[in-house]
Amino acid sequence: METKNNLSLIVANWKMNQTISTVNSFLDQLLLSKLNLSNVIICPSYTLLSTVKNKLNESNVSMGAQDCSSFAYDNGAYTGDISTNMLKDIGCDYVIIGHSERRKNHLEDDDTINNKIKNAHKAGLKVILCVGENLNDRENGNYLQTVAHQLINGLADIPNIDNIIIAYEPVWAIGTSKVASEQQIEEMHEFLTKTIKDLYLTSQVFDQIPKIIYGGSVNQENAAKILALNYVSGLLVGGASLNIEKFCKIILERNTIKGKSCN
Ligand code: PGA
Repeated sequence: METKNNLSLIVANWKMNQTISTVNSFLDQLLLSKLNLSNVIICPSYTLLSTVKNKLNESNVSMGAQDCSSFAYDNGAYTGDISTNMLKDIGCDYVIIGHSERRKNHLEDDDTINNKIKNAHKAGLKVILCVGENLNDRENGNYLQTVAHQLINGLADIPNIDNIIIAYEPVWAIGTSKVASEQQIEEMHEFLTKTIKDLYLTSQVFDQIPKIIYGGSVNQENAAKILALNYVSGLLVGGASLNIEKFCKIILERNTIKGKSCN
């Protein structure tokens, strides 16, 4: 098997950051880095999608959006919304759905998230579905239940998991410098893998484990350790993906991990 197919996913979630000029200089440096950039996905704000696309055109870096409309996949009277067809049209391959900041700040529930996933699939986009418990759930011991609920409801009536990446992001670890422990990450990723297999077993044959990536205070220091864990197929990186040195170091760490099957 070619090495590049084994490389774990590195997803940059830039959130509400960057301008046209900072993006151009960031991507110039990324492309000059000579790193293997396969399976790297950049998710900028809507206003930066076309700038990013133009820069990445000749590269193998993919682009994703951070959200999409839940109402329609094509068009309609939804002021301020961006449809998945529009994202596809501007060159996105992926869309992040159900990030905890959207669940919290925009009161997105599982039904809304489920509609967004359906719209993404109608437009031919792959989905990065975020799930994760808050500190209360973790401390009460309800974390597996909470995350299973988000997963099962988010994926209701979605016929197969092939075009879906699950991002496990404990809310208490996002932007807090508090990374989940190796044991906590492995426990949840194994649980999610089993839950997905149970959900899809009758309709789907799994020759590879479902893609489940980890996010929450990932940086250049902890990336390699997290990537080496069982059931971890990649990383969703917020803060550290905005700094070119840190981001390149994370990709370098990913590229130098050997002997792990990261499907
Ligand atoms: P963080 O964000 O890496 O800054 O914790 C991760 C995310 O929210 O996707």
